[in-house]
Amino acid sequence: MMAVHLQRPLAAMCCLFLYCLIGVLSSPDPRLREALIELEASMQTGGQMVLTDAEQRLDALLLKLKQEEMSREDFPPAMHFFRAKHLIQTSPIFRLLQKMPKGGALHVHDVSMVDVEWLVKNVTYRPHCYMCSTDNMSVRFIFSSQSPKPLARCSPWVLLENLRAKIVNTTDLDNSIRGNLSLFTDRDPEAVYPSQDVVWDRFEQAFQAVWGLVTYAPVFRDYFYQGLTQFYTDNVMYLELRAMLPEVYELDGSTHNKAWTMKTYQDITKQFVSTHPDFFGARIIFTHQRRANISAVAEAVKEAMQLKKDFPDFLAGFDLVGREDRGKPLWYFRDALSLPAKKGVQLPYFFHAGETDLEGTEVDQNLLDALLLNTSRIGHGFALLRHPVAKDLSRKRGVAVEVCPISNQVLKLVNDLRNHPAAALMLENHPLVISSDDPAMFGASGLSYDFYEAFVGFGGIKSHIGSLKELAMNSIRYSSLSREQQKEALLLWQRRWNTFVTENEFLKIN
Ligand SMILES: *[C@@H]1O[C@H](CO)[C@@H](O)[C@H](O)[C@H]1NC(C)=O
Ligand SMILES: *[C@@H]1O[C@H](CO)[C@@H](O)[C@H](O)[C@H]1NC(C)=O
Ligand SMILES: *[C@@H]1O[C@H](CO)[C@@H](O)[C@H](O)[C@H]1NC(C)=O
Ligand SMILES: *[C@@H]1O[C@H](CO)[C@@H](O)[C@H](O)[C@H]1NC(C)=O
Ligand SMILES: *[C@@H]1O[C@H](CO)[C@@H](O)[C@H](O)[C@H]1NC(C)=O
Ligand SMILES: *[C@@H]1O[C@H](CO)[C@@H](O)[C@H](O)[C@H]1NC(C)=O
Ligand SMILES: [Zn+2]
Repeated sequence: MMAVHLQRPLAAMCCLFLYCLIGVLSSPDPRLREALIELEASMQTGGQMVLTDAEQRLDALLLKLKQEEMSREDFPPAMHFFRAKHLIQTSPIFRLLQKMPKGGALHVHDVSMVDVEWLVKNVTYRPHCYMCSTDNMSVRFIFSSQSPKPLARCSPWVLLENLRAKIVNTTDLDNSIRGNLSLFTDRDPEAVYPSQDVVWDRFEQAFQAVWGLVTYAPVFRDYFYQGLTQFYTDNVMYLELRAMLPEVYELDGSTHNKAWTMKTYQDITKQFVSTHPDFFGARIIFTHQRRANISAVAEAVKEAMQLKKDFPDFLAGFDLVGREDRGKPLWYFRDALSLPAKKGVQLPYFFHAGETDLEGTEVDQNLLDALLLNTSRIGHGFALLRHPVAKDLSRKRGVAVEVCPISNQVLKLVNDLRNHPAAALMLENHPLVISSDDPAMFGASGLSYDFYEAFVGFGGIKSHIGSLKELAMNSIRYSSLSREQQKEALLLWQRRWNTFVTENEFLKIN
């Protein structure tokens, strides 16, 4: 885990020179071998990072811990996260990653940022909360001052307050509610979710179940505040939230528009930052369903343009969400998505693209199309290795890939996280950030679990403290913040990082 300080042009020259030597020597030269190994190590994420003494000490500890972890028979990244979660929680590397200042979380969705436990124990215990059971084993919720109108394909509404008063032991009811609000299960995950179709269907059902809870105005505010708290506690200092900007409702059924929702997000962010000065802030990426029709997407793009005008520093941009394999490809929406450019309006895009294993389909074309549409980052980019041109463009233009390991595993694109395509991207320092997508849906929280999978899983033995440092810095460098704001955020992050590496209690124990 030695840091090599080659500058890029120099590395390229060495590279040529070393390659020429291969094959002309009659027996393999150990010095040449050493040089090639060092060259490769210098090419990875963080490979050129110059490490301080304190960082090197922490790195030595990390290497030792990682070697121990990798020699385990029950190696967590090789297992489904639902099974690995308890093991990860006891890992000393995980506890260290929790303490590590990770910078920003750039790919997180609005209604899956808070632990489901909080929804069950806090939100469903509030007064006026009604629940019904759908005809296909899911649930829906609504807060209402009077008995709400019946919902199609759902049982009559029951007031949870009344139901809980009737039953003596509410554990089973709470468990069943919890089970409906996320994908997490104690049962065998491969048996519960045998295919992508099954897991995506349950995923969408869970979103609809959560929807009625979190779009109730008082909950909406508390939920976002709670979300910021959870990310902050996980040592994340900045958030770019992908938000549907839903119609938020009051107890009397009246609703608010998108501007209200944006304003609420903004007010709560300001309030949070004022009481947590080492938190840098949050911005919103407005998202719309990709299974919508062209006119609906055009409408959403127009709304986004208006919101960008009204909230220039708070709205980061626009994205399309939902299962890529079932939605229309980006190209289908090209006219709608070209509206801002045609009107000369700045509306940055942050497209989900390449969250698929269906190589060669029309949807698989999304990666190149996202780049053609000037996307600022790529959400997932799971298929990027199969698109050398898109990969090259993404690297040259600094369009970072938002890698969400646990999401890709739970949604069945990869089983063993050592085989995640980002392993290859990290080995050549492709612009990328680590994020958590829908942590609550996957039984995770914040960013640390995903950092663990990236660092210990596909990072392998080679990734080191420099890799972690570069990943954290990437999350600021590739954020939507202006150059000036990035400088400021980086300073704030650097102060916390220095404290982390010098005052780490792990070093004292070991
Ligand atoms: C729920 O959370 C809110 C906001 O954090 C808090 O004020 C309230 O007391 C909690 N209610 C319950 C029932 O836990
Ligand atoms: C369950 O019902 C909802 C509508 O209530 C529907 O959108 C969804 O596709 C159904 N899922 C299954 C598996 O039938
Ligand atoms: C309630 O029920 C659960 C499971 O059915 C059981 O584990 C728990 O001990 C019960 N709690 C009480 C207070 O009886
Ligand atoms: C979801 O709720 C339904 C209806 O209450 C229940 O039958 C089902 O077991 C719950 N699902 C899970 C996964 O807990
Ligand atoms: C497009 O979708 C919107 C919203 O779902 C709907 O109101 C509209 O009728 C649809 N338009 C066409 C042309 O299908
Ligand atoms: C993408 O950027 C290019 C160059 O700045 C510009 O000509 C083009 O109109 C943009 N396309 C879209 C869809 O924004
Ligand atoms: Zn996503």
